Amino acid sequence: MKTIGIIGTGHVGLVTGACFAKLGNIVSCFDSDFEKIEKLKKNIIPFYEPGLSEIVKIQKEKKKLFFTHSIEDVVSASEIIFICVGTPSNPDGKADLSFVEQASIQIANALKKMKDKKSSKKNYYRLIVEKSTVPVLTGQWVKRTIELIAPTGIDFDVAANPEFLKEGSAIRDFFYPDRIVVGVENERAKKIFKQLYKPLNAPMIFTDIKSAEIIKHASNSFLAMKISYINAISRICDKVGADIEKIAQGMGADKRIGKDFLKAGIGYGGSCFPKDIRAFISIAEELGCDLDILKEVEKINTEQRKIVVKKAREFLWNLKDKNIGVLGLSFKPETDDIRESPAIEIIKLFFQEGCLIKCYDPKAMENTKKILPNIEYGKNAYDVAENSHLLIFATEWEEFKRLNFKRIHKLMKTPYIIDGRNFLNLEKLKEIGFICCGIGKKPGGL
Ligand SMILES: NC(=O)c1ccc[n+]([C@@H]2O[C@H](COP(=O)([O-])OP(=O)(O)OC[C@H]3O[C@@H](n4cnc5c(N)ncnc54)[C@H](O)[C@@H]3O)[C@@H](O)[C@H]2O)c1
Repeated sequence: MKTIGIIGTGHVGLVTGACFAKLGNIVSCFDSDFEKIEKLKKNIIPFYEPGLSEIVKIQKEKKKLFFTHSIEDVVSASEIIFICVGTPSNPDGKADLSFVEQASIQIANALKKMKDKKSSKKNYYRLIVEKSTVPVLTGQWVKRTIELIAPTGIDFDVAANPEFLKEGSAIRDFFYPDRIVVGVENERAKKIFKQLYKPLNAPMIFTDIKSAEIIKHASNSFLAMKISYINAISRICDKVGADIEKIAQGMGADKRIGKDFLKAGIGYGGSCFPKDIRAFISIAEELGCDLDILKEVEKINTEQRKIVVKKAREFLWNLKDKNIGVLGLSFKPETDDIRESPAIEIIKLFFQEGCLIKCYDPKAMENTKKILPNIEYGKNAYDVAENSHLLIFATEWEEFKRLNFKRIHKLMKTPYIIDGRNFLNLEKLKEIGFICCGIGKKPGGL
């Protein structure tokens, strides 16, 4: 059993805290967003993640998981402190590390207060861990910042333990990771991590802090590169009538390539890939290294959204005043996260064309309404389909696979479908009477 502190209870911090509590540790969580902590105290989870609310509720009842407005309480109660704050993009693409700096300063000040309490007999050693995705060399800055503020006599290590969980399957990803990457500076920190993660029985890769920081950026960039690569190939398929799914199958069967992340579609989005790639390009440039390969990955990804508009024009001729139905708004299924969602970007493109847009998502409507208040929202997929000229499937939610497409066909003004995620059975849709296509895929192949 360890005592753990979480700074930043967003997607990563809350999942990490709740899951560590489930493993038997005592976890206290702090967030600078007052409302968020108030909600969590009342068992209200600020975002949708399958299975998370049950764990939070149970671990709170078991007195393993706590939420507080006091970072001092977290720091004084916890041997291991995870920094899980956001690292969004600056307009120039660089990672905005101001939240990480702020968290480091707050931790250092809390350490100072802890030391000042003369009555405190607590152990002063603290392991401060970057869990946020950060550019290489951030660990050095975190260490320097804390050293400058924290008084002598406070013994601490800094470490990097990048997070690889995926929204939508975050709980499973925590308990069954492919690997746990840990960057440490000494044996003491390494030993603590070994004890902490022992119950997971997962492969652990120990390295220096800088390498751990790079592993995260390099991994996300590589996955995004796979997506853009298959998307680039899908354009050839569109030109000649080949089938990208079969091509991905043929490629992925080679173990050296692997089948994952070879799904053509409207491109990657979300809170991680786009910003992490921009941050990796930026830090590489700062260090005088060329990562132009990733600029191309970004370019392909941006163009992938425009391909949907082009396909719509091939179906509908003029787009102005046409009713476009968009099904799926989150950047992927099983989340309500719409950060850099391809669906949102596609809606904006159709909006610019003068289209009338109506959309639906099982979980992401409330978040979308905040940023796109001027479009119409349907009660369900059928409501969106009614009188639409074209339906675009932008997120592959399970419930969309089970739709009654005969009913949808009757409801639509013209029977056009674009499957932006290549997850529908285009042959069946064609039999019903739809004119449809995927990305690099049309019905009627062998
Ligand atoms: N979301 C993912 O799927 C995912 C996966 C792997 C890694 N990451 C990385 O983890 C980090 C966090 O991502 P997220 O999705 O959880 O972000 P998030 O925006 O959901 O949560 C960040 C939280 O940090 C809080 N915060 C900001 N400054 C703070 C401070 N000084 N003290 C306390 N709290 C503070 C915010 O209020 C917010 O609640 C990012 O670096 C991200 O790249 C995210």
